[in-house]
Amino acid sequence: MKGYIPQEKIGEIKSRVSIVELISEYVTLKKAGRNFVGLCPFHKEKTPSFSVNPEKQIFYCFGCGEGGDIFAFLMKVNGTSFAESARYLANKAGIDLPVRKMTGEEKVKATEKEKLGRINAMAAEYFSAQLSSERGRPVRDYLDARKMGDAIVGGFHLGYAPEGWNNLTSYLEGKKVPLGLAEKTGLIISKDTGGFYDRFRGRLIFPIEDLGGAVVAFGGRAIGSDMPKYLNSPESPVYTKGRVLYGMSRTKDAIRDRDYAVLVEGYVDLLSLWDAGVNNVVATLGTALTREQVELIRRFTRNVAVIFDPDEAGRHAVERSLKLFLEEDMHARVVVLPEGYDPDDYVKKYGSAALEDAIVRAPMMVDYYIDTIMGGGDTLEDNLDTIRDAVSFISTISDPVERDLFIKRVSERIGIDQKLLKGKVEKASPGRKAAGPVPSPGKRTGKVDIVELNLIYMMVEYPEKIPVAAREGILDCFDSEELKELGQTIIGETGDMSSLVGDLEDGLVKERLLKLMMEQPFSDREIADRVFNDNIKQIRNKWYKGKNALLKRELIRAQHAGDRALSDSLLRDRNRLLKEERGRSNNEKSDQIG
Ligand code: UTP
Ligand code: MN
Repeated sequence: MKGYIPQEKIGEIKSRVSIVELISEYVTLKKAGRNFVGLCPFHKEKTPSFSVNPEKQIFYCFGCGEGGDIFAFLMKVNGTSFAESARYLANKAGIDLPVRKMTGEEKVKATEKEKLGRINAMAAEYFSAQLSSERGRPVRDYLDARKMGDAIVGGFHLGYAPEGWNNLTSYLEGKKVPLGLAEKTGLIISKDTGGFYDRFRGRLIFPIEDLGGAVVAFGGRAIGSDMPKYLNSPESPVYTKGRVLYGMSRTKDAIRDRDYAVLVEGYVDLLSLWDAGVNNVVATLGTALTREQVELIRRFTRNVAVIFDPDEAGRHAVERSLKLFLEEDMHARVVVLPEGYDPDDYVKKYGSAALEDAIVRAPMMVDYYIDTIMGGGDTLEDNLDTIRDAVSFISTISDPVERDLFIKRVSERIGIDQKLLKGKVEKASPGRKAAGPVPSPGKRTGKVDIVELNLIYMMVEYPEKIPVAAREGILDCFDSEELKELGQTIIGETGDMSSLVGDLEDGLVKERLLKLMMEQPFSDREIADRVFNDNIKQIRNKWYKGKNALLKRELIRAQHAGDRALSDSLLRDRNRLLKEERGRSNNEKSDQIG
């Protein structure tokens, strides 16, 4: 029993959810032998070292050591608890989890995040129902006028927050939702005079979802000329602005399939492009692009086409985001639309083919930056300014190859000696090293006995070895308490080895074991047998040696102390041990001959 999910349900979820399908929602995977590989979502890398094994239902990254089962993956990628992850998967697989009453202790365990998630989901349902109700008529007219049809409304679960101060508040109250808790979602606001009122009033509602499709916040557009035009949820325990991209839960598959993402700024721009068939689109929602958002996109593709306004603000946005894209090793293009058009206006007027065309013809952001923004000027001062900007910009580029290319291009563009520019950049960024995988702290330290570990692995990979290991009593000869306990669990376990690994605490043993499980097992049965027998022998020899040395030390001590009785008994022990060891190795020899 984990959290309050019964064990048999956990097993059922595991048997119904394919780990490859699940992880493919977050990472582009390609088949490689028995495994699937892709770029690790948990650390920055250029060549795939993240592996998924469908038979064993486990994943492991050879670069950073993260690994585990489907639950571990979701917990890590979405930052959710075990229970939340299990609930999400159960829902996906169409498995009913018992909604039995939680005990007091379990209630405490159900995290606040889960509760806030449920309140957000209730609110999204409420807003959606309001939009289809009689009250929603003016908003439906507005949507019609803007050519936002049922596909959009249904596809993105749009809703309506009616006019009035306490529509949602009283709805939630009627559903027995503690309003103090609901306040934390930002949906309702407490009054100085006591009580609460609705944040969203008389607005078209856009639910904002995380990658897994859970509603974490809302955007609300005024129907008339109310200010502000757009009102958004504040940050909350389930919502951090720069970590979410609007629409992505519903467009990530298209982004992966088409291998590029179109990045826009507004809700309506996203919906309008999606409706026109440009469905590999995401939106930043009016704030500056963040590194976390770039990393989100990078899980699905390395290619982005960014649509910017051609104004001053747009130029700044290009400069800021170009740095991010270069640092994250993404290939970005800039689509500049005609003055006065946003993406929505543009597709409405010229159609999606024209937009797709503009995207294909869009210059690489690097070129756009050098040609249009960096510019250079007529006077010496202008050029000095440009060089200064260029130097500070180039020194932020982490990839040395990319940096050199940039230096070359800039030096040509503004007519300055390449070596000189390079020297200036190096001075401005002392001690920069080539970007490489950063080992996660605390994971790769410490030691683990590789022979003992390998024996455990053999038990996992070849379950028919488990009774042999038990009969030999080999675990008693283990040095490592952790591995010994693990071995005992395996002997007591039936079946599912990936759960066993999933249950292991993060650490060196788990990491190494996953690594072994991910690699190709022995091609030949005989080799596997030989390795297994050899492991047992080595472990036992080491144990004899240790035991022998210990007896010897005790014997010397007893002799020094003149304890005749003790040293006799120790001597007998030692002889018995030697005989036993010799007997074993003779047996092994005759085993091999026979
Ligand atoms: P725009 O003002 O360009 O709006 O803001 P839009 O997307 O074209 O919307 P329509 O077509 O008038 O309906 C772009 C984005 O900036 C954010 C919103 O996310 C919006 O989609 N924004 C804008 C706000 O958050 N608050 C505002 O008051 C305005
Ligand atoms: Mn617009």
